[in-house]
Amino acid sequence: MNQDLVYKVKQEFGSQFGSQCLLINSPGRINLIGEHTDYNLGFVFPAAIDKGIICAMNHSNSSKCTISALDMNEVFELELDRLTIGQHGHWINYIIGVVSEIQKKGWQIKPFNMVFSGDIPKGAGLSSSAALENSIVFGLNELNSLRLSKMEMIHISQKAEHNYVGVKCGIMDQYASMFGEEDSALMIDCASLKAKIVKIAIQDYDIVLVNSNVSHSLVDAAYNDRRKVCEKVANLLNVEALRFANASNLLKLKSKISEEDYQKALYIIEENQRVIDAYKCLDQGDILGFGTLLFEAHKGASEQFCISCPELDYLVAFSKAHPYVIGARMMGGGFGGCTINLVAKDRVTDFIIAISEAYHLEFNKPCTTYKVQLSQGTHLIN
Ligand code: GLA
Repeated sequence: MNQDLVYKVKQEFGSQFGSQCLLINSPGRINLIGEHTDYNLGFVFPAAIDKGIICAMNHSNSSKCTISALDMNEVFELELDRLTIGQHGHWINYIIGVVSEIQKKGWQIKPFNMVFSGDIPKGAGLSSSAALENSIVFGLNELNSLRLSKMEMIHISQKAEHNYVGVKCGIMDQYASMFGEEDSALMIDCASLKAKIVKIAIQDYDIVLVNSNVSHSLVDAAYNDRRKVCEKVANLLNVEALRFANASNLLKLKSKISEEDYQKALYIIEENQRVIDAYKCLDQGDILGFGTLLFEAHKGASEQFCISCPELDYLVAFSKAHPYVIGARMMGGGFGGCTINLVAKDRVTDFIIAISEAYHLEFNKPCTTYKVQLSQGTHLIN
């Protein structure tokens, strides 16, 4: 946890609203493998990380809520019985969304004040939005003694994103951010919503993220389009979601759908299998096999599901050619953000220098690298 951030948020809340407050840490997430499989009710393999949102909250003593976003240097006032959606893409919509979804369920919340700040790079595909949503629902649940389960909370966060932000996301980000565990990833079955907690010890390798610094924030439509294609093909196959389809059923449909749609659906079926295989590899200590699956996942995401971009393809190709990287792929919704790389522990510095120089030379802009720790999900800080 970033103690400086906790200190800053606490101080700021104290100076605006008084020292009594709840402090919440709500992390971002990485995903080892399994992109776009979540809304197809398949498997995903994410983990919460040591970058996130720190949020301070308490009841307000007026009828208004005052919300202060330190990183944006913006303050908003809300009245709980007069909520209207803000400008498209604005952070306030995450807050309004969560509050409205709680209210829609008939739960009463009292006016509150809130200060938040985070260290998740925006647009990097590390789910700053899920972290923010979860911090609010978690804090409001505590403040108002709503007794919501974590599962109810993540559904509220997801609905806020669907209905107030406009992204028809799956459940992976909210789930990983809420339920994450230290040093572990979650092998989530998005049909049953059950997860296996898997200790991640990838022997002599480190997870290194490389941010292309291509912000993926303007691609909501492309994300929602992918989801529509998957649902259309699932419908034609007469299954609830592509998780329940297989390649031979899909092949029978090939002549009736476009080649693009066929490849997209095939990607989902194959990616789902890759997550299962990746879990087995880790279970058996086959780290090289796990790494190979990451490279394959990238190929599918780029060539079949078409969610990559030249920068991400370049970064993954660079990693593939690097002798000390055993696996790499684009991570998250796509069209920008980070790649995830498995790099030999004693070569991480060399790798970072080499990829940073090469990227700069190729695109005349910098990439950014991070090492992350797998961490506990949304929780109160004492
Ligand atoms: C975004 C969404 C998730 C998931 C990923 C792709 O992060 O919020 O639900 O679909 O993209 O795997």
